Amino acid sequence: MVNEITAIKLNSNVKLQMGTFHVAVWGCQMNVYDGDRIRDLMSASGYVEQAEPKGADVIILVTCAVRAKAEDKVFNQLGAWRHQGIINDNTVIALGGCVGSELAHKIIEIDPKIAIVFGPRTAHRLPAMVAQYRATHESVVDVNAEALEKFDALPEQGRRGPSAFVTIMEGCSNKCTYCIVPHTRGEEESRPEQDIIDEVITHVANGVKEIHLLGQNVNSYRGLAPDGSISNFSSLLYEIAAIEGVERLRFTTSNPMEFTDDIIQAIADLPIIADAIHIPVQSGSDRILKLMHRNYTADSYRQLVAKLRKARPNIFISTDIIVGFPGETDEDFAQTMQLVDDVKFDASFSFIYSKRPGTPAAEYEDDVPVAHKKENLYALQEKLENYATMYSQSLLGTTQRVLVEGISRKSEHELKARTSNNRIVVFEGSRELVGQMVDIKVVQVMSHTMKGELLDKGITLS
Ligand code: SAH
Ligand code: SF4
Ligand code: F3S
Repeated sequence: MVNEITAIKLNSNVKLQMGTFHVAVWGCQMNVYDGDRIRDLMSASGYVEQAEPKGADVIILVTCAVRAKAEDKVFNQLGAWRHQGIINDNTVIALGGCVGSELAHKIIEIDPKIAIVFGPRTAHRLPAMVAQYRATHESVVDVNAEALEKFDALPEQGRRGPSAFVTIMEGCSNKCTYCIVPHTRGEEESRPEQDIIDEVITHVANGVKEIHLLGQNVNSYRGLAPDGSISNFSSLLYEIAAIEGVERLRFTTSNPMEFTDDIIQAIADLPIIADAIHIPVQSGSDRILKLMHRNYTADSYRQLVAKLRKARPNIFISTDIIVGFPGETDEDFAQTMQLVDDVKFDASFSFIYSKRPGTPAAEYEDDVPVAHKKENLYALQEKLENYATMYSQSLLGTTQRVLVEGISRKSEHELKARTSNNRIVVFEGSRELVGQMVDIKVVQVMSHTMKGELLDKGITLS
C-alpha cells in the first residue's frame, strides 16, 4: 500500500488500489439509489468496481426485507456463490440494506463468514468498515446513524444513464401494521431542499434528462428551504421543474393518505411530470385498510383518482395490492377486485401478505389458507394484467415523446426508450440518440413492450 500512496503523490492520476468490489442490489428503488452511491463511494476510496462477483475482493450486498422471500434471497445467493466457487473464505462480504438493519448482529450468528453488516443509514461508513475488518479480521456490525448523515458524507454523484434517482427523504413514520420498512429505515426525515436541488443540478450537468424522486412517502416531504422555512412536496416539485435541463420528472412512492390538492395542482401545472403515477392502495376493503393502519378509505382513494384524472386526463395510475392480509374474507377481497374494476389500474404489483417479525400484524390471527390466498392472487393478477394490456393497446398509432435509455438487447440497430406513461418502446435508430428525448409513433403493441418508428429523423442532438 505504501508504494501506491507514494505513486499517488508522484502522479495524481494514478488511482489508489485498494482492491476490487462488486455491488449486488435487491429491493426497491431506494436501494438502487443506495447501491449507486456505494459504487461512487468505493470508487472514490480507491477500489475498482467489477461487474461480476467472481474474484472481487469485497462483495457488497444491498438487501430487501419487505417480504420473507425477499429476505431469503440474499442468503440463498450467498449459498449459491459459495457452492459455485464464486466467493471463498478470502472474500470480504458486506451485507447491508434493509436485512442488515433488521437482523444486525443476528446475521453473524446465521453466517459467521460475513465480515460486515451495515444498514441503509450507514452505507457511507463502508470503506472504514472494510479497513477495520481487514485490520482485525473480526466482524463489524454498524447499522445505526442519523437519518441524513450519509447524504452529507457521500461523494458527489457519479455519472448515470439518462435517468437518475434522487432520494428526497429517508425512513418512514407511517407504521402500516404489516410493514417492516419503518423498522429497517427508521423514522422519516426529509433532506434539505437545497441538497436535493444541488444533486439534480449535478445530474443534469452529467447529461441526465429524467429525475426520479424517491421516498417511502414523498407526499409527506417536509424539508428545510433555503430561507429557513419548511418546504413541502408540491413546492419541491415546482423547484425541480424549474431547473434547466430537467425534461421529465417522476416520483415514487405516494401514499394516498397525503395526496393533497396542492400536489394535484402541481401535476396539472407541470407538464414535465410524467403521465404515470404509482399510488399503492393495498386493499379495497375499508375494514382491512383500517387494520393495516392506512388512514384512507376505498372511496377517498376513488375520489383521489378522479381528481388526478381531471387534472391530467392521460395519466396512467398503478398500484400495490396485498392479498390475504390476516382475517381477509372473500367479501374483503371482492371489494379489492371491485376497486380494481372501478379505477382500472395500469401495470401494478400484487403480493401475498408476508408476516414480518416485530410488526403489529404479525400478532393478528391469520386463518386464511395459503392455497386460497394464492387463488385470489392469481385472479387479481389476471385482472390487473388485462387492464395493463388495455392501456398498452390504447397507445397504438399514437405519437409519444420518449427518453432513449440505451441500445436494445436484441439488436444493436434498435434503441430502447421509455414513454412518459412508463412503457418500453423499441425502435430503429442510431446510437447517438441514447440519452435524448425523441418523438416516435407506436406501430405495434406486444405483451410487455411496444415497437415504434422514429418520427423526427433529422433530429439535432443537444
Ligand atoms: N412506502 C410505500 C411502499 C413500500 S413497500 C407505500 O406505502 O406505498 C412496497 C410494497 O410492498 C407495499 O406497497 C406493499 O404492497 C408491499 N408490502 C409491504 N409489506 C408487505 C408485507 N408484509 N407483505 C406483503 N407485501 C408487503
Ligand atoms: Fe411501509 Fe406504510 Fe411506510 Fe409504505 S407508508 S413504507 S407501506 S409503513
Ligand atoms: Fe425493501 Fe427496504 Fe425498500 S425493505 S422495499 S429495500 S425500503
